[in-house]
Parts: sequence; structure tokens; C-alpha cells
Amino acid sequence: MWESLDNLPDVSCEHVDNQPDALKADTLRLKSNDEPTMSFDCRLAKRTRSFEQVTRSVAVICGMLLSTIGCRKEVREPITQKFDAAQTLRGAAEKHHLLMGAAVDSPYLNDARYRATVIQEYSALETANELKFDAVHPKPESYDFSGADALVAFARTNSMKLRAHNLLWHRSLPNWIAVNDWMHAQNGPSTPWTPETLNKVLAEHIATVVRRYRGEVYAWDVVNEPFNEDGSMRSSIWYEKPGIGFAGEGTKYIAQALIWAHAADPEARLFVNEYNAETLNKKSDAMYEMARDFLRQGVPLNGIGMQMHVESDFNSFEDLSKNIQRLGRLGLEVQFTEVDVRLRDDSDVSLRAQADIYERLLNVCLRESACTLFQTWGITDRYSFIPETFRGYGWALPFDENYKKKPAYNAMLKQLQLQSKVAEH
Ligand code: G3I
Repeated sequence: MWESLDNLPDVSCEHVDNQPDALKADTLRLKSNDEPTMSFDCRLAKRTRSFEQVTRSVAVICGMLLSTIGCRKEVREPITQKFDAAQTLRGAAEKHHLLMGAAVDSPYLNDARYRATVIQEYSALETANELKFDAVHPKPESYDFSGADALVAFARTNSMKLRAHNLLWHRSLPNWIAVNDWMHAQNGPSTPWTPETLNKVLAEHIATVVRRYRGEVYAWDVVNEPFNEDGSMRSSIWYEKPGIGFAGEGTKYIAQALIWAHAADPEARLFVNEYNAETLNKKSDAMYEMARDFLRQGVPLNGIGMQMHVESDFNSFEDLSKNIQRLGRLGLEVQFTEVDVRLRDDSDVSLRAQADIYERLLNVCLRESACTLFQTWGITDRYSFIPETFRGYGWALPFDENYKKKPAYNAMLKQLQLQSKVAEH
């Protein structure tokens, strides 16, 4: 941005000597053929002023032209628009020391409105897909860090914290690890995995990926969705089919993954992330017991991620608080990692009900000192996994498909602004 004209130097001649050579030459030229009365500085200042005035008026005319043809708003305003930080989720959450996060995919950053909304509203990002096994390690001998690197650069440029998702999951595996469908059977592992060979592959994968983002990624979802709804271990290639050497030994394979991740980056906060384990139930009990055992054994676990994919009839706020409190008493952080509130329609009634849920979820996080992140799984209904996964549902995020702030956004902002700091996060 140009310096404003107001602080141009006052007119006086003694400046000449310490002007850079180029300017001196220029000055000399000035001396020979312009109005004799005015000192050179005056001429210079005057010239600059007139030049500034000319360019500004050109800019203004362009601006008016562009805004009349409606593209300026689209192209420039989102990025360079000066905005009142206090009127953003990011700014308003600062006094609560609460991170407001969003899961993003780097291709969407080519959408200027998407990019501007993320920059203005969020203090933390998460790699929604580009650090999953299939995306980052597509072939045995090759890694593709392009997507994650783009998010690292974006986060750094915009002073945002970067959270990474995920190192060990039963889904999104490349064919060379587990054939996803018979169509790709020929691309499957050449010989069936043994616990030893799979252990080696996973150890190398975690070390390579975590080491690369040491100092860039503040927290990792090391293991994602390890439990069934009844609290038993989810069957997976990593647990017992054939597993990495701890088949039938409960959460031991999770502990192993945490130990490998910690070795690769001792500073990173390490999480186990799950869905439907937000309130008090068999699954959250299993998460709690795993966490308590790990801390007793000295396994490097720093927190629990609660995905929070809910509907607008969610009503277990008290149980949610109790679950966070018991994890907090273990000394763990709790992070809301994938919040969205899916609706069957976008009527005013539904949007108000949704706003109420977002507001109350945020209040629980604000009230519980163990809760350090409130993160939505995306930002806009334009890019949401809900319609494809939950048929008949949608409209789940705080911004609509045209990036218009929804009642849910306004309800969260109001809470962040109204609430005085209630808990030290
Ligand atoms: O990037 C490739 C692209 O190159 C290719 O052209 C395209 C077509 O095949 O696929 C793209 O990859 C897709 C990826 O999303 C990025 O868009 C994968 O096929 C698709 O399976 C993947 O879906 C993601 C899904 O997890 C599986 O990884 C969804 O976007 C993502 O929202 C969803 O997120 C999960 C969390 O990780 C865990 N919790 C539940 C949540 C919702 O299922």
C-alpha cells in the first residue's frame, strides 16, 4: 500500500546531498529547464504530488469501472479488503485464546472467496485430505507432498496454525497397501502383508511424513476412528488384518503409532480422533480408558479429537461437558476437529435450529478449559462431504455456497464477542 501523501518531506533544499545518485542526476536535469522560482525539492515534491494525484484518480476511476462491472469486488476485495478483525471468528476468539479452525483442501484455495474467508475467519487450518495415506504416499517408493506443502505455505503466510490429519486410518489407503475394490486387484500388494512387513511400512511412513512437517504442524491426528460403537476395537489392516504385530492386544497398535510419531517430532501435539465419542457412551468410555492407560504407561498422547458431525437435534451438551472434563482431569486437551451440523432443508426454522447448536457447542468449548480448538469440517456448503455421505442432508457449515454468513456464523461470532473469557484455554 502506498504511503499516504501527507507525510511527504517538507519543502527545503538541504536534502539534495543525501539523495541517491539516480535522483541527483534527475535533480540536475530539473535544475536546468524548469520554473526558476521554486527550489528543486519543491519541484520534486510538486511533481510527485501531481503524479500521485494522477495515478490515484486513475485507480479510483478503474475501481469505479471495475466495481460497476462487478468484478472488482470478486477479484480484489476478498484478499486485500481491510476488515475489522474483531468482527471475525478469528479475531473475536483471540481473547479466549481459542483456536478457530477449518479443514481445507488446497485446490479450493484457487477460489478467491474461499481463500479470503479462510484468511479472515480462521486462526487454524487442518489438512482435510492431502496428508491421508492414499494422497501423500500413493506408491511404495514415492510420496506426494504437493498438496500439504501448499497448505503449509498458506498457513505460514497467513499466520495460521496447521493441524494434520491423519497417519493411521482404516480408510483412504492406496491400493499398494490395501486393494479398495476388485477393479484394482492387480494393483494390490504383490505378496500378502505380514505383521512384520506392515509394521516396517507404517513405521517408515509415519517417520517420513511427520519429520517433513516438523515445526510446521502443531498437532497430528495420529490415529483416526479406531473403535466400534460398542467400544470394541475396529477391525482393520492395522489392528489385526494382519495388524502391525499387536493383533488382539487392544490399543497397543495405537500406542505404537503414537510412539513413532513422537520420535519423529517430539514437539507436535498428538491426538487420537473419533466420531460418536463426544458424549458419554461405550465408545467414549473406550477412548477414555485408552487415554488413561496410555498416560499411566507414559505413551505420548496429548489429546482427544472429537469429530462432532451432528444433526440439529443434538442435545447432549451436559454429557459432552462431562466427557471433556474427565479427559481434562487426565491432563489431556480436547479439540472439536470436524464440526458440522447437517440439515434436511435450509428453511429459516432449520437455519435457526442449526445456529442454536453451533452456539451451544461453542459455549461448551469456551466453558471447558481443556477444549483448545473449535474446528469445522470445511467452511462453505459449496464444498461439504455431507450431501454425498448423508443422503437428503446438507447446508451443514457456517457459510452458504455463496460464502454468505449464515445464522450459525452470526450466533458464533456473537458468543465470542459477548462472552468474557470464562476459561483459560
Ligand atoms: O484428490 C483426488 C483427486 O485427485 C481425484 O481426481 C478424485 C476423484 O477420484 O479423488 C480425489 O480424492 C478424494 C478426496 O476426498 C479429495 O477430494 C477421494 O476420492 C475421496 O474419497 C475423499 O473423500 C474424503 C473422505 O474423508 C475419505 O478420505 C472427504 O473429502 C472427506 O471430507 C472425508 O473426511 C472424513 C475425515 O477424514 C474423517 N472423519 C469423517 C470425515 C467424513 O467422512
